[in-house]
Amino acid sequence: MTELERKHERAPVPSEWTYASAPEARDIVTLQERYGHYVGGEWVEPRETYTTISPASEEPLAEVGQATPEEVTAAVAAARDAFENGWSDISPAERAKYLFRIARILQERSREFAVLESLNGGKPIKESRDVDLPLSAAHFFYYAGWADKLEYAFPNRRPRPIGVAGQIIPWNFPLLMLAWKIAPALAAGNTVVLKPAETTPLSALLFCDVLRQAELPPGVVNIVTGDGRTGAEIVKAESVDKIAFTGSTEVGKAIQRELAGTGKKLTLELGGKAANIIFDDAALDQAVEGIINGIYFNQGHVCCAGSRLLVQESIYEPVVEKLKRRLTTLRVGDPLDKNTDVGAINSKQQLDKIQELVATGEEEGAEIYQPPCRLPEKGYWFAPTVFTNVAQSYRIAQEEIFGPVLSILTFRTPEEAVEKANNTPYGLSAGVWTEKGSRILWMAERLRAGVVWANTYNRFDPSSPFGGYKESGFGREGGRHGLEPYLDLDGSQALSP
Ligand code: NAI
Ligand code: MG
Repeated sequence: MTELERKHERAPVPSEWTYASAPEARDIVTLQERYGHYVGGEWVEPRETYTTISPASEEPLAEVGQATPEEVTAAVAAARDAFENGWSDISPAERAKYLFRIARILQERSREFAVLESLNGGKPIKESRDVDLPLSAAHFFYYAGWADKLEYAFPNRRPRPIGVAGQIIPWNFPLLMLAWKIAPALAAGNTVVLKPAETTPLSALLFCDVLRQAELPPGVVNIVTGDGRTGAEIVKAESVDKIAFTGSTEVGKAIQRELAGTGKKLTLELGGKAANIIFDDAALDQAVEGIINGIYFNQGHVCCAGSRLLVQESIYEPVVEKLKRRLTTLRVGDPLDKNTDVGAINSKQQLDKIQELVATGEEEGAEIYQPPCRLPEKGYWFAPTVFTNVAQSYRIAQEEIFGPVLSILTFRTPEEAVEKANNTPYGLSAGVWTEKGSRILWMAERLRAGVVWANTYNRFDPSSPFGGYKESGFGREGGRHGLEPYLDLDGSQALSP
């Protein structure tokens, strides 16, 4: 026996894998005590404020403004002024230059933004570092490329900007949703008033610093913070030409009612209850990773989350067994720890909603499974959860939970899978896992969902359009399609050949 072999023989076999914590440095972020609204390139002292916190510790982070109707009016006026006096007339290549700058600065400052995003929103640093930040920069790069090519994007038409865009975004991907909204709007030559969600305003406020670094002309992007009351003021503002909203179906419907008959353009990206469909010929271990990524990514705070798992009956048992085993390896805890897989729930309000829906699942007769895990005492937490024995009529199979909760259903034939998958008021996304290419195409044709992933899940690319059917909303973001809502193409005439 060699020395090395002897050493190995004596080494105790580990019975459990524990991880030493690997915290990301928080001091890369400098927080101000108080933030105002960013209007016309200046910080405006807010009249009313509230405290934004870290959902992982309930620690107060900063005071931010709750914009009043007058403050919203000032932001819209600044955007109108910037639109009429310069921005819509500068050369498209010049517009692109600013977008390229913003993209590069985001890359340079990505660590700082990632830490802030995890601190204010509760998502694992692994995700904000590897998903939110790279994708945010990629969106600015992508739309920078279109800014001087709009006439090629829409041949034989005369694309013109529409004016001032009011943009209201949610808390699940704060900076990424900002990028999805601002990049195409500016590339098309519009100006913007954007409101981040009330629980996650800080990355949008830090973004104002990027705008200054990029020397974007004042008033082209204005950021006001506040809750739904501020959002409603933006929707009502007369001088806003287009509203882009991502959030709940309930608020989306209210906005649509408010705007009916005004001639303002509107796009809505609302909720979902996506089916992730596993056929018996799928590579099961990969499918299990796809299920995990589909529902536990970002604590399940994902509009396109694969929250309904449809498993072909013949493989039900091995899939559930593998899934439960994989669930026990998920590490739940401090969002700033690089080992963390599942972070904090974004707010008390969202935690209450998850708890309420999970309770109905148990009452209605579904069987609950949660892996053993110790949740931190402070902050908002929910263990990764799987429901089996779920009927299609249960609320957990119908309503968007927007948390780390999976409902498992079964099917026998592809036809039945399609019928169950489409049996929802939503239609944002779906996943299909199978070895057969022909089956992927057959399914994709029949699924009423804006995005269908095949043998993968939750993949995003700025060049690929994203958006829904039915109560998931209308309009597309990303890709060439994502420019359309920000352009006037109707006034254009076909050019004679
Ligand atoms: P919400 O729709 O109330 O909030 C989204 C954004 O809209 C926030 O910026 C909010 O301040 C703003 N807002 C709220 N009321 C408004 C109004 N009357 N007029 C204009 N803007 C308004 O969503 P909430 O209450 O945070 O979450 C409730 C549920 O909505 C979640 O549990 C989830 O199911 C769903 N949701 C879906 C999202 C998606 O990505 N599609 C994102 C966030 C929530
Ligand atoms: Mg709400």
